[in-house]
Amino acid sequence: MLSDRILKAEESPIRKLVPYAEEAKKRGIRIYHLNIGQPDLETPSVFYEYILASRPKVVYYSHSAGLWELREAFAEYYKRRQRVDVSPDHVLVTNGASEAILFAFSIVTNPGDEILALEPFYANYETFARIVGAHLVPVTRREENGFAIPEEREFSKVISSKTKAIVLSNPCNPTGVVYGRRDMEKLLEIAEKHNLYLIVDEVYSEIVFGGDFATALSLDSKRVVVVDSVSKKFSACGARVGCLITKNEEILRNAMKLAQGRLAPPLLEQIGSIGLLNLGDEFFEFVRNTYFRRVKIVCEKLERAGIKSFTRPGGAFYVTVKLPVEDAEEFAKWMLKDFNLEMETTMVAPLRGFYSTPGLGRDEIRIACVLKEEDLARAMDVLLEGLKTWIEVYSST
Ligand SMILES: Cc1ncc(COP(=O)(O)O)c(C=O)c1O
Repeated sequence: MLSDRILKAEESPIRKLVPYAEEAKKRGIRIYHLNIGQPDLETPSVFYEYILASRPKVVYYSHSAGLWELREAFAEYYKRRQRVDVSPDHVLVTNGASEAILFAFSIVTNPGDEILALEPFYANYETFARIVGAHLVPVTRREENGFAIPEEREFSKVISSKTKAIVLSNPCNPTGVVYGRRDMEKLLEIAEKHNLYLIVDEVYSEIVFGGDFATALSLDSKRVVVVDSVSKKFSACGARVGCLITKNEEILRNAMKLAQGRLAPPLLEQIGSIGLLNLGDEFFEFVRNTYFRRVKIVCEKLERAGIKSFTRPGGAFYVTVKLPVEDAEEFAKWMLKDFNLEMETTMVAPLRGFYSTPGLGRDEIRIACVLKEEDLARAMDVLLEGLKTWIEVYSST
């Protein structure tokens, strides 16, 4: 018999529809993938240049906390781009932000403890919580007030002696909302009042085109753990290089036990990532402008189709949409199984898996703006045509 922990963990809601997509491909249908957050921009060549220039004779295990030069590069990057003082000693290099989240959850919870997740949330937080035996407890952000950070009383209602931390991503996957200094202060006040850690996932921090982003490290508090990675900001998801940053020495010391257990992050990708972190402002401007134009295309298409309820993201590259359908997952599945427009269809992520409150997100989807403009526009046309057909078919039955 396998463990309760693993049996209770669910398949990624984003990847659940993959078998239907594979079947559609076998039927010769082209699929526009707006379902996963895999950026399509070219990984900057400096990544390879650093690796080739270094060409280590042996692909050795680096220090478990990561190459010192990379930890320095992260610290420098935070100083330069986020204007906060971070020492390389406060940076622990991980296998992507994913491992940093897993480390953070393992360190701050015992089995049976609870982590408050601002809902809707990045669906894998649920998986990581279950793997460490913790429960994710939702605190819901509402579309009607722009997915603002809920008031303290909303947190108090669900806080118990088992609550250990608050987790959120900023900018937010899936809503694209960006939180600023005041929001971070509000969260810290709540964390302080209830003796909690504040885990903030900042993987999208360079993709901000509206709103005023503030890194949680600017709070300068030992309750704060930030996770970050090169995946989204440098379009290097497969590098599997991220980090956990905190000024809390106790957390760092204990994170090292996990880091030593898994020996080291990947060597060559760490070397390449040093090059990425040294990139100048122009690169970030290019990334920001590219996603801004794309998000605009998606919002314009939705508007023109008469869809009223969708987020106008200030950051990240996702748009969440409330559809005039009862079950968005069924619709997304139908788009793959039964619909095509001139042998093309569009794949989106149903939002239900981003909520843990039953019933929420049922009629919502997330669109990832990860295709070049022309393809994105076409993908939206195909999606909206599919929606029109679905409504016609199901309103007449
Ligand atoms: C909010 C958020 N955090 C973390 C990750 C995973 O990051 P990484 O590739 O660095 O493990 C993702 C990937 O989609 C994400 O959206």
